[in-house]
Amino acid sequence: MKTIAVLTSGGDAPGMNAAIRAVVRTAIDKGLRVMGVKRGYSGLINGELFEMKKGDVSDILQRGGTILRTARCAEFLTEEGRKKAAGVLKVFGVDGLVVIGGNGSFMGAQKLSKLGVSTVGIPGTIDNDLSYTEYTLGFDTTLNTVLDAINKLKDTSTSHERVSIVEVMGRDCGDIALYSAIAGGAESVLIPEKGFDFDELCKTVLEGKLSGKMHNLIIVAEGIGGSQELAQRVEEVTGIETRATILGHIQRGGSPSSFDRMLASRMGVRAVEVLLEGKTSRVIGIRENRITDDDIDEALAMPREFDDKLFEIAQMLSR
Ligand code: F6P
Repeated sequence: MKTIAVLTSGGDAPGMNAAIRAVVRTAIDKGLRVMGVKRGYSGLINGELFEMKKGDVSDILQRGGTILRTARCAEFLTEEGRKKAAGVLKVFGVDGLVVIGGNGSFMGAQKLSKLGVSTVGIPGTIDNDLSYTEYTLGFDTTLNTVLDAINKLKDTSTSHERVSIVEVMGRDCGDIALYSAIAGGAESVLIPEKGFDFDELCKTVLEGKLSGKMHNLIIVAEGIGGSQELAQRVEEVTGIETRATILGHIQRGGSPSSFDRMLASRMGVRAVEVLLEGKTSRVIGIRENRITDDDIDEALAMPREFDDKLFEIAQMLSR
């Protein structure tokens, strides 16, 4: 292993820059040459590779987004596109590739490794939807962003004695909603893993009002969606003014939290070590505060285990 490359792919996540920094600095420290790939797999196919030095990653630890830019690439979904990408890596003399991204990006790495490229994945997605790892990069920062929004919405919602519905991202995974509901003190949380009963929801709102609650906060996961319509229906049935706020892409930005910076640094270092150990098709994760590396096929095949205890906690503490 003499030269490695690093790319970011899919939706950006706070902490990606910290991971790039860790990969670049570790690789150089261990005597490797590092290439940055611009615009994810799309840049890889187009040969957008450039050598990175330690100074190129100065001052990025604290920055959200990704200095390498990112993209979702349709061409890479084809066998032909992937063959082109593997060819480009060969031309540039790249022996190993670090892919920082989510599920879709890992599936790309999995397919690329079948073409003989040594790959290792670092989980960078705000969704926290990868079963083999307890946390993904960006999730913690996103939670803090959501909590900040919730705090502000509570001020106005309490002043008007309204119901506030807050829709958060997460694709099919309810983790952002569930964690922010617990940490933000929401009265209800609607997540795809559990579904919801509309009448029960309205009952909770009315009981809250009767017990003297000044506001009522409902967190809705993206996988449930339809927050504006839900707000109208809740208002019609309960007679309490209801507003919906869809937080959207604001959840993807911002300076990474200390947790995400630590996670990115530890994972970035381990990714390079794994390539140097001669392993391929691995994905880095964290379990019980230990940095792990798993076979990519096994990791992607792991069923997602929903944390029922957290859901119980969310419900119990909201009353
Ligand atoms: O995967 C991260 C994520 O932010 C999801 O939560 C969301 O569904 C999606 O990306 C949005 O994608 P885009 O930025 O392409 O609109």
